[in-house]
Amino acid sequence: MSTERKVALVAGANGVIGRNLVDHLVSLGDWEVIGLSRRGGADRGRVRHLAVDLLDPADARDKLGGLTDVTHVFYAAYQDKPTWAELVAPNVGMLVNLVDAIEPVARGLRHISLMQGYKVYGAHLGPFKTPAREDDAGHLPPEFNVDQQNFLEQRQQGKAWTWSALRPSVVCGFALGNPMNLATVIAVYASISKELGVPLRFPGKPGAYTSLLEMTDAGLLAKATVWAATDERCGNQAFNINNGDLFRWSELWPKLARWFDLEVAPPLQMSLETVMADKEPLWNSMRERYGLEPSFGEVSSWRFGDFVFGWDYDVIADGSKARRFGFHEFVDTEEMFLSIFDELRKRKVIP
Ligand SMILES: NC(=O)c1ccc[n+]([C@@H]2O[C@H](COP(=O)([O-])OP(=O)(O)OC[C@H]3O[C@@H](n4cnc5c(N)ncnc54)[C@H](OP(=O)(O)O)[C@@H]3O)[C@@H](O)[C@H]2O)c1
Repeated sequence: MSTERKVALVAGANGVIGRNLVDHLVSLGDWEVIGLSRRGGADRGRVRHLAVDLLDPADARDKLGGLTDVTHVFYAAYQDKPTWAELVAPNVGMLVNLVDAIEPVARGLRHISLMQGYKVYGAHLGPFKTPAREDDAGHLPPEFNVDQQNFLEQRQQGKAWTWSALRPSVVCGFALGNPMNLATVIAVYASISKELGVPLRFPGKPGAYTSLLEMTDAGLLAKATVWAATDERCGNQAFNINNGDLFRWSELWPKLARWFDLEVAPPLQMSLETVMADKEPLWNSMRERYGLEPSFGEVSSWRFGDFVFGWDYDVIADGSKARRFGFHEFVDTEEMFLSIFDELRKRKVIP
C-alpha cells in the first residue's frame, strides 16, 4: 500500500459506473473519496458527497474551489439527451467546468480519468469495424466522447498531470434512476413477463439475437479505471475494457430466463419503450405485493434497452491493449448477469 496521500474526486458518483468506482476506491483502503453529483448522498467513512451542478460553471467553482487536496479526478458524469448531437454541449461543458474549477486549486493533481465508450468507434451509428482498436481511424462528429478527449489532450499540454480514457462496452452493475442500465432492463422486463404469465421473449431486432457482443462488469471497470489512473505507463492512453468473453443473446437469453424460472419463446421484435408505457400501475401493484423499493421511473431505462437490443451487427472491441499494459482481470458474463440479478433481488428491486 502506497504512503502517498490519494484523494479521488469521482464525478457522477450516483451513476452505474461512478457508484461502483466509489465502492472500489473505498475497498482499497488508502483513498479518500469525494463523490460528486447533483443529488449528492450520505457521507460514510472515507466517502464525502458533494451536490454540484456541473452544467453551472459558477456552482462548480463555488463548490470545488476548496478541494485543494484532490490528486485524481475520475470523470463519469453524464447527461442524457434524445440525439447524438444534443449530447455534445452539456457533456463537454460539464467536463470543462469541472477541470476549470479544480485544476487551478488542486496543486497536487496527478491524473484525470475519462470514462468513454464504444461510441468513439461509431458503434452507435451502425455496423463498424470490429474488433475495434484504440488506434482505429476516427469518424465524423458530432460525438461527445471524442470531443471530451480532445479537450483533455489539449489542456494537459505542458502540465504535470496525465489523463487516461476507458472505453467499456455496455456497463452492467447496480444503480437506480439512470438512463443506461441494461441489467435492470432485463431484470424488470423478465419480472413483468413472469407476473403476466408470459414467456421471456427477446424483444430486439431479429439479427440482434445472433450478433456477437460483449459486456463490461461495473466492478471490473472500476478496477481497470483505478489501475489506468495510477500506473505510470498508462499516462495519456486510452484502453478498451471488457469482460474478456463474447456471447450471442441466442445462447445467453435462455440461461437468463432460467434464473427467473421463465420459459423462453421465439424472439418477437417490440419497442420496450412502447410496451412498457402502460405498465406503471402493474409495477405499483408488484411493489405492494413483493415489498419492492424503487418506483417505475427508477427502473425504466427502456430506451437504452431498445438501443442495445437493436444491434443486429457485432459490437466488440479488442481488449488486448489493457492486457499488454498489465491489466489482466476478467469476468464471466453469464455469472455477472446472475449475480447482478441476485443483488437486485436482495435490494428489493425485483421480486
Ligand atoms: N451505462 C453504460 O452502459 C455505459 C456504457 C459505455 C459507456 N458509458 C459512458 O460512461 C459515462 C457514465 O455513464 P453512466 O451510465 O454511469 O451514467 P449515469 O448512470 O447516468 O450516471 C451519471 C452521473 O452523472 C451525474 N450527473 C448528471 N448530470 C450532472 C450534473 N449536471 N452535475 C453533476 N453531476 C451530474 C448523475 O448524478 P445526478 O443525477 O445526481 O446528478 C450520475 O451520478 C458516460 O459518458 C457514458 O456514455 C456508459
